[in-house]
Amino acid sequence: MHAYDRYLTALAGRGRVQFAVKARPEPQLLEALVRRGAGLDVASTNEIRAALAAECPPELLSHSNVFRHEREIAESFDLGVRVFCADSAAELTRLRRAAPGASVMLRLTCAPAGSELPRFGCHATEAVALAQLADEIGLHVAGLTWHVGTQQTDPAQWRTAIEQAAAVWSAIRRAGIDGLRVLNVGGGVPARYRRDVPTVETCTATILAAVDDHFGPAEVDVVVEPGRSLVAEAGITVARVKSVLERGGGVAVVLDAGIWNAGLVECLLSGVEYPVHALDHPANAPDRPVRLCGPTCDPLDELRVATPYRLPVALAPGDRVLIGSTGAYCASTTATDFCGYPPLPNHVLPARAMEVSR
Ligand SMILES: Cc1ncc(COP(=O)(O)O)c(C=O)c1O
Repeated sequence: MHAYDRYLTALAGRGRVQFAVKARPEPQLLEALVRRGAGLDVASTNEIRAALAAECPPELLSHSNVFRHEREIAESFDLGVRVFCADSAAELTRLRRAAPGASVMLRLTCAPAGSELPRFGCHATEAVALAQLADEIGLHVAGLTWHVGTQQTDPAQWRTAIEQAAAVWSAIRRAGIDGLRVLNVGGGVPARYRRDVPTVETCTATILAAVDDHFGPAEVDVVVEPGRSLVAEAGITVARVKSVLERGGGVAVVLDAGIWNAGLVECLLSGVEYPVHALDHPANAPDRPVRLCGPTCDPLDELRVATPYRLPVALAPGDRVLIGSTGAYCASTTATDFCGYPPLPNHVLPARAMEVSR
């Protein structure tokens, strides 16, 4: 809960946290966050069920997956969800039929630098017409949202997005729609992997300052929607060395955990570089550059990094290698049993145990 508390302190009562469940749908985590008053961003009926099982009040749920089927909208509505993101006329029409009278968060696109994976959304120029359509068909236009891209290392991207949102907000109000209250600034706050990144405090301060500058005294409910920055650093994967192969002038260390069975696929797709430590060797042991491979012998099953990992020269089969910051978008979301290596077992430790192990 340390990361959640950092958000609350940084927000200083000026906004609330809505955790993106997809980053880590762990029941104990959801229960703990809900007990502390967090809302939850959900993307599917199963995530809604998980949120409700964690006793999240339905009014603290927001459904952000704009690729859902109309049947899924109806299920969500039946389960009590009343806030849905939308970024197209087709989606608004589906909402009118399957979630009559629901609140809509219009999702804007932004083309952020500093992140590898830009997100979906409508263009600012389309937003007013969408707000008018929503209003006409009986939906409540509650606010605006966007995502500046995950693992966003440039806080100025929120400032740009908030400036754009303020212009859209004013245009919607000028069109006679005045129920806007919520400014959901999305996720994207980076987690610390191998490198230092802007902190939760820095990103939140930038967001609040930009809201002050561009919304002035307008009444705005700020919502932050973190995923990885809340949970990545709370997770670790402990692998064992299967073999150390010296060939072609290089060294490959084969671990029993890799891209597929430990769900580390983000290091292939979005430039995430997990920190690693050899647990059974002193920190100052002589080391050398190595490639780190998973167990499947598949060419993709390698923790790809720009700067090679270095591990002890004396590393041997059976030694443990800790892969850090694996708490978000890993085991519970992407691990598969490719090549017959089943997903690793998952253990949830009490917060006190995590403190001791740090
Ligand atoms: C709608 C929405 N909000 C929040 C997040 C969390 O993003 P991050 O993990 O980058 O903080 C995501 C992640 O994909 C998302 O789709």
